[in-house]
Amino acid sequence: MCGIYGYIQSKSQKKPLEQCLDGLKNLQYRGYDSAGVATICDGDLIAFKTVGKVDLLNSLIGSKKYELSMAIAHTRWATHGGLSTENAHPQIDYQNTLALVHNGIIENHIQLKQFLEKKDVTFLSQTDTEVVTNLISYFCNQMSIKEAALKAISMIEGSFAIVFIHKNSPDSIFAIARSCPLAIGICDHTSDVYISSDPSSFSSSSYHTTFIDSDEIAVISNSSLLIYDFNGKIKEKSGSHLVVKNKDITKDGFDHYMHKEIHDQSFLCREILQKRKHQDSFYFSELKKSEQKIKQTKHIDIIACGSSYNAGLIAKEFLERLTLFPISIHLASEYRYTFHLDKKDTTCIVISQSGETADTLAALRYKKETFLQTIALCNVESSTLTRECDLFIPLLVGKEISVCSTKAFTSQLLNLYLLGIHFSNVLGINHQKLISEINNIPFAIDDILSKENIIKEYAHKYSKYPFFLFTGRKDMYYTSIEAALKLKEISYIPAEAMPAGEMKHGPIALIDKNMATVAFIGNEEISSKTLSNLSEINARNGQILLFASEIPSHITKDVILINSNGSNTFAPIPYSIAGQLFSYHLAKNLDREIDFPRNLAKSVTVE
Ligand code: F6R
Repeated sequence: MCGIYGYIQSKSQKKPLEQCLDGLKNLQYRGYDSAGVATICDGDLIAFKTVGKVDLLNSLIGSKKYELSMAIAHTRWATHGGLSTENAHPQIDYQNTLALVHNGIIENHIQLKQFLEKKDVTFLSQTDTEVVTNLISYFCNQMSIKEAALKAISMIEGSFAIVFIHKNSPDSIFAIARSCPLAIGICDHTSDVYISSDPSSFSSSSYHTTFIDSDEIAVISNSSLLIYDFNGKIKEKSGSHLVVKNKDITKDGFDHYMHKEIHDQSFLCREILQKRKHQDSFYFSELKKSEQKIKQTKHIDIIACGSSYNAGLIAKEFLERLTLFPISIHLASEYRYTFHLDKKDTTCIVISQSGETADTLAALRYKKETFLQTIALCNVESSTLTRECDLFIPLLVGKEISVCSTKAFTSQLLNLYLLGIHFSNVLGINHQKLISEINNIPFAIDDILSKENIIKEYAHKYSKYPFFLFTGRKDMYYTSIEAALKLKEISYIPAEAMPAGEMKHGPIALIDKNMATVAFIGNEEISSKTLSNLSEINARNGQILLFASEIPSHITKDVILINSNGSNTFAPIPYSIAGQLFSYHLAKNLDREIDFPRNLAKSVTVE
């Protein structure tokens, strides 16, 4: 995954090392296993690297003043090689001539390493990044730096964004990419140059921004930006205008961003409903031009990963009932390796908070040409996903900082419900009863938030359990999948989700007094069935915590009452938020690092 940053000073007085560290902080959502920065000072390569977060670099750099014109930097999510300073980026080559940062995976790194070892090239790390660093360095002995980089990428298999500096060209930064985002922004006011995996990490200002396309190389200095194609020919690229407003996002008095983001959901859902309100229904102006294609649609494919996938899972039946289209929901990471019948006239909805998830992008690209239209449901307007889909629906929840998705997930689900209503409007299918129910969602969220103390008490009580089973039926089962994911992510306690009716087919063997079951009963039409399944768990001394709209005292005393404001249909939203609060307080009680859990990154940019 990883975040790449580079900076070249032009007319401003900004200090390259400080500027890079500032930029890296905005990229830590892409990984925070280690951080590093490199530059060239008086002809020497200098690099500072540390295991852990960017802030730790400050003390390494110390107060020494360096006269610099540029620097490159990196925040890592480890793929090859453990968490150590040797494996942190920037990687320095065997000749001590170049420093390189990398995002992505070099799939044939073992073969390339063998090739280099035969040439007596030595290695210090376990990373695939060091292989590409040494490969470019090796070819630099025979040709120009630009030619060496092009020669190296002609041998590399995989996807990557790479930025490097070389002693022989001390005022330049070289940038290459293949299927990984890498943006170059030239500041309108200072002409300073910024390079990043994500242009929203540039300093607040306005920019002329260019993305590096696959197998292009950019040679960047404070006086020129030259982009060459794979054959070394100059390419003219038009670029686009970008305004970056990087307001400092605070925790607003909450202990964690996750907690704040959970609480923001009530007003955010109100704002989303307000924005989409149209006459006595809901409408997406972004889809105005696609009405003909909606009418032509015969199937909907939904593609996503993780929580974004869970939002699709929960909404699937609702969308099917409302549009009468068959809906297929696909895990993006499996999509390219699974057989798909080519279905004509398919609208594809791709869901992603970040818009940079490599699996999701690869799945989109795999079949994009066969879809009637592609719609990105995404939180980041400048993301690769929104650029590659035909249409874009923003999540409108602002930046989500906590790695564990809460408000983005809820917006995805709400927007899918609203999309169902939009589609049914275009198709002339009646859905009036749903309008007042969906308008009640914010009140149901308020109700859950008002019960936080009760949820917290139960979270404390249950934090002693070593294993959790989450269960429910129909959309409550899918809601329980999302709740189990939240708990695993931030508490590190194993949690599995299981449809309540499936327990007796095997998993009930797990039940004893040490196993905690969390059950969601938000769909009244089937609650008696779920309760029977819970009785079976009860009979085997399993501990049960129930999130339900009424108290079935014969099952358990541990009940959190959820008021879905008369709506079974949209109950997954308040129940999911109850699950978020439960996981949050349980993880807090265990003193976990909630906003930045171990081994995770906010944006998963490797397959
Ligand atoms: C869970 C979580 C992840 C993401 C998944 C997809 O809390 O955040 O499961 O949902 O990595 O990421 P996006 O939505 O950015 O494509």
